[in-house]
Amino acid sequence: MTARHHKTWIGILIALLVVMLALFAYVWQPEIDPVEGPPASAGEEQLLRGRNVAATGNCVVCHTAPGGAPNAGGLAMKTPFGTVYSTNITPHPETGIGSWSFEAFDRSMRRGIARDGTYLYPAFPYTHFTHLTAQDMEALYAYLMSTEPVNSVPPETKLPFPLNIRPLMAGWNLLFLDRDPIEPAAEKSDDWNRGLYLTRAAGHCAACHSPRNALGAEKKGDNFLAGGEAQGWIAPALNEDAPAPVPWSEKALFDYLRHGFVDSHGAAGGPMAPVVREGTSRIPESDTRAMAVYLASLAANQDAGSTRSTSDQTGPAQSVLAQVSTADARLFASACLGCHHAGDGPAVFGERFELRFSTSLYLDDPDNAVRYVLDGVQEPASSSVGYMPGFRHSLNDHQVSGVVNYMRTVLAGQDEWSDLADVVSRIRNEAAGD
Ligand code: HEC
Ligand code: HEC
Ligand code: HEC
Repeated sequence: MTARHHKTWIGILIALLVVMLALFAYVWQPEIDPVEGPPASAGEEQLLRGRNVAATGNCVVCHTAPGGAPNAGGLAMKTPFGTVYSTNITPHPETGIGSWSFEAFDRSMRRGIARDGTYLYPAFPYTHFTHLTAQDMEALYAYLMSTEPVNSVPPETKLPFPLNIRPLMAGWNLLFLDRDPIEPAAEKSDDWNRGLYLTRAAGHCAACHSPRNALGAEKKGDNFLAGGEAQGWIAPALNEDAPAPVPWSEKALFDYLRHGFVDSHGAAGGPMAPVVREGTSRIPESDTRAMAVYLASLAANQDAGSTRSTSDQTGPAQSVLAQVSTADARLFASACLGCHHAGDGPAVFGERFELRFSTSLYLDDPDNAVRYVLDGVQEPASSSVGYMPGFRHSLNDHQVSGVVNYMRTVLAGQDEWSDLADVVSRIRNEAAGD
């Protein structure tokens, strides 16, 4: 080997070493020293503020196992990459975050790095919480530290190789963690800007309502709130592509977010129910209204397409009726109409809702409508919404397809879903996730 070759090789080696050191310095995050004893006690006003940030952020929804103590962790979250367990965020010193300084908490919420330097998975929506103002973050910390410590160790998250190598998340963050602050729009109202902040930061609405790429990161830009997925449910688009048959107004959005139901759109079902129950129904009314103001402006250009049924439609066209087997219509009449009748009769249970307004009937896929029929409404956003029995055990696949097809074609006046039978059998055969 010539001297020149030698030099080149040494040069390359040094360059590689520098890159690796830089990478290590970038990826490696120090442990932040534990603190002992409770932090300085906070004032009433700050605690209240912190409680509202926590409610808007739905911490308790993800950080509580079924039947478990609030915020003690252990909820199994199924992701396309495997099951991630939420952690104990009560101030217990050993099993929770009781020994976390504000600095450690702030780093975890803004950069997804735990106190001991461990990288966290973005199933924890730090990509949104990173936008919280300093004041909100401090209040949130004070509030969590004022709650009851619970001694509880959640199950350990074990994702398959290579995702079990948590430092890889440093690369993910480099690509997808956008920490730029949310810039208020000068030409918009205070309410609008407040709504933007609540929706994007604590509310993390896009975590479910935006589509994601192959690496599990939300798509941005025009894809913001353009429709996503959550726990097997479709989270409909909330922007101008919103599929709702009636355009969303500010008032309808407010009622839906505040009460979990509105006549012109129906109920907050599936994973949206806890968002309302633990979040938008509990925060100050002015905050719920601000979200409605902001979201209504996004949906403002929504065009209730000419192919969609409109609110003045009085009944199905004869031609559509002819395509529907009378057996499906009869089944719908006997199993469903008691609660879902149109006309002036009394509400039998909860809200009496005209199903032709249900967004679930206007989506590209039948999943939400099928889930409603198979599983009913067991945990509504509020008890005034009412309950619906699941028909999983009383109707067979053929019958479920029949009533769903009836709602889709007759009540909503849409073309049949071509993959309906497959979706019904897939959802029925999923591990029943109560
Ligand atoms: C969508 C579900 C979800 C929501 C909502 C959520 N979290 Fe989490 N959080 C998680 C998961 C899952 C983890 C564990 C991630 C991991 O193991 O990598 C986590 C981890 C954390 C951690 C790190 C704790 C530790 O011991 O490492 C903190 C702190 C935290 N969350 C605080 C909060 C707060 C405060 C809120 C509300 C403002 C909140 N989370 C809302 C799912 C959620
Ligand atoms: C955990 C996932 C999740 C989060 C977080 C979430 N949503 Fe939803 N959202 C859904 C799902 C699923 C539906 C469909 C529910 C149904 O069909 O009953 C939905 C429905 C809605 C609807 C009704 C859409 C329609 O056309 O019927 C609105 C409005 C809405 N969400 C607003 C919000 C706002 C505002 C936030 C943030 C504060 C939010 N969502 C956060 C999952 C979520
Ligand atoms: C015991 C009363 C009851 C019966 C019987 C019943 N439902 Fe429901 N259903 C409800 C309630 C309450 C809700 C939640 C409030 C709402 O959305 O109307 C609901 C919601 C729904 C929704 C979601 C509507 C939305 O808000 O987007 C669909 C779809 C639905 N039901 C279909 C059916 C079908 C199909 C049947 C018959 C197989 C049926 N229901 C039988 C009470 C009932």
